[in-house]
Amino acid sequence: MSKKVVFVTGAARGIGLGIAESFALSGYHVVLSDINQKAVENSYNILSDRGLSVQSAVCDVTDESMVESVIRSVVDQHGRIDVLVNNAGMQYVSVLEDFPTATFRKMMELMLIAPFVLTKLVFPIMKQHGFGRIINISSINGIIGFAGKSAYNSAKHGIIGLTKVTALEGAEWGITANAICPGYVDTELVRGQFEDLAKTRGCSPDKILEEVIFPLVPQKRLIDLSEVASMAVYLASDIACGITGQNLVIDGGYTTQ
Ligand SMILES: NC(=O)c1ccc[n+]([C@@H]2O[C@H](COP(=O)([O-])OP(=O)(O)OC[C@H]3O[C@@H](n4cnc5c(N)ncnc54)[C@H](O)[C@@H]3O)[C@@H](O)[C@H]2O)c1
Repeated sequence: MSKKVVFVTGAARGIGLGIAESFALSGYHVVLSDINQKAVENSYNILSDRGLSVQSAVCDVTDESMVESVIRSVVDQHGRIDVLVNNAGMQYVSVLEDFPTATFRKMMELMLIAPFVLTKLVFPIMKQHGFGRIINISSINGIIGFAGKSAYNSAKHGIIGLTKVTALEGAEWGITANAICPGYVDTELVRGQFEDLAKTRGCSPDKILEEVIFPLVPQKRLIDLSEVASMAVYLASDIACGITGQNLVIDGGYTTQ
């Protein structure tokens, strides 16, 4: 296969699906991986019915042996993985003293340890080809704090550190690593946290956008997932070879204030 191969985690919906679609439309072969079998197969069917070069893989990124076997099978099939997008994530909002430790651990496993394991597995393949792009989906919560999101903030700050080390270790091998840091993107993950956020902010869930989020965002809007997807495709391109170890922020001005 001559097409470059992209492996996207958490690709069944939201930002991951948007990224997978954009890469497929740009001529890549895309592996949509997700823990949710039904959802990832549905998304695969929609993209493949449009004639795009895609495949699906059920993969819980927190299960190291499952990740190893999925990566091995993609490499056996195509001989390469050129682009890894570490996107799978979750949110849980609670004040520190009520935050379950098990949930904290789960979120670190999902959004920090899993990207480390995946990077470790694709690195030798990328080195062999003298080309690689690691794109980690962090967040503005990787740069600034947000009350009620202790685990999310910790994982998203952590992945920025991992991105910098990956960039340094990949530099001589044609491998770049960057983190995309979106602000509030209009996805189910964001809308699903309105209720819990409302509890920590003492307002009603249907007022979260107006009263909590928009006052923080100079552009007074949610980011569209196509904005994040286009950045990922750009970072994977040949012309972006000099951009490495960076955090690319897409937040409507949130962190500039
Ligand atoms: N939505 C936003 O505003 C926003 C902003 C900044 C960063 N992000 C980050 O972008 C990424 C995607 O967010 P989203 O809004 O599209 O979320 P989403 O909830 O819509 O999608 C997340 C996907 O990850 C999958 N997933 C969860 N656990 C998994 C596991 N163990 N193994 C494999 N897949 C798993 C889910 O099944 C789901 O398909 C996350 O890392 C999130 O932190 C989102």
